[in-house]
Amino acid sequence: MDFPRNQGYGGLMQVNRKLTLTAHTLLVCAGFFASTVHAADANLEAGRMLFTKDAKPACAICHTLADAGAMGEIGPSLDDLKPDEARVLQALKTGIGQMPAFTSLTEEQRQILAKYVAQVTKAH
Ligand code: HEC
Repeated sequence: MDFPRNQGYGGLMQVNRKLTLTAHTLLVCAGFFASTVHAADANLEAGRMLFTKDAKPACAICHTLADAGAMGEIGPSLDDLKPDEARVLQALKTGIGQMPAFTSLTEEQRQILAKYVAQVTKAH
């Protein structure tokens, strides 16, 4: 870019201040977006872990879900069923048919799982 040499020292300082402000604004925005994306990723990863391992018994034993690499065949394939969040939550809270209730999980864990299943099966 062209430095405004003909404006003297004061002019140069002003330009510098503007540049600094702009750079700062960009950094703040980038940081905000990065942290939002990371939070979403972390929840997806937590949901996947609950599905494959942390929930007892693990959902993956009974259900097929491509995103989790799960190929269980006792319950319906969630890839086909594409349950929305509310449907997953209900099944986890009360159990359904052969599926036990998952009251050992916290409400937050059940929500993370429900969001995860709904999101990776594109139910929402
Ligand atoms: C012991 C095997 C088993 C495990 C473990 C299991 N499920 Fe199920 N699940 C089933 C069966 C069987 C059904 C079908 C029940 C019926 O419709 O009678 C079912 C149904 C569902 C449904 C559909 C509910 C509806 O409204 O039709 C969802 C969603 C679901 N399971 C999610 C999960 C999640 C998430 C986990 C892990 C926390 C899990 N399941 C763990 C066996 C299991």
